Amino acid sequence: IDKDAFSHDLISWFTEEQRELPWRKDQDPYKVWVSEIMLQQTRVDTVIPYFNRFIEQFPTIQDLAQAEEEKVLKAWEGLGYYSRVRNLQSAVREVHEKYGGTVPATKEAISTLKGVGPYTVGAILSIAYGIPEPAVDGNVMRVISRILSIWDDIAKASTRKIFEEAIRTLISEENPSYFNQALMELGALICTPTSPSCLLCPVREHCHGFHEGVENELPIKTKA
Ligand code: ADE
Repeated sequence: IDKDAFSHDLISWFTEEQRELPWRKDQDPYKVWVSEIMLQQTRVDTVIPYFNRFIEQFPTIQDLAQAEEEKVLKAWEGLGYYSRVRNLQSAVREVHEKYGGTVPATKEAISTLKGVGPYTVGAILSIAYGIPEPAVDGNVMRVISRILSIWDDIAKASTRKIFEEAIRTLISEENPSYFNQALMELGALICTPTSPSCLLCPVREHCHGFHEGVENELPIKTKA
């Protein structure tokens, strides 16, 4: 793959075609963090009104750190997976106390926060801070498995690292935020789980899976 041409085509498409989503209005690390936690087990359309209400009620790290747990749980009601919000408030309290309310901008510091796994680390560092770190979730694995024709089993925990390393070789150092968000958006709008819209794909000419005619066979996923 020609790294510069690939990044250019991917980022140009995202610049033109991205959906207007409430967490894309600014690059506040706290808002990026809240949105990524909500989006981990919940669809975009469901998350939108919850995100808007949550940020209205707890606009900053300070507000969430000082809020009563009961009020925070109430704001999450209906999203499910309540350990997500318990971990989030506990981690936000740590950022408030230990870092004066500034989300740390290093992989080492941010990784120690409760509920912040490798995907969330990469999403916050790239989207909020412009640091070129991969943010690999299931959707990104699907997209990259097709583009690079990677046949490793994405159900295996050890496979994520293969994708992280592949993305490190491709990621735009100029705009890692758009690069990562464009991969997510491509997975949502074009490179869908079934019947991907390859004829509309902005990176079709770079895509090994498409050229090999195997886009519908990828990714390999053994167990649910
Ligand atoms: N899924 C996970 N993160 C996302 C984001 N930032 N925008 C849209 N969908 C997502």
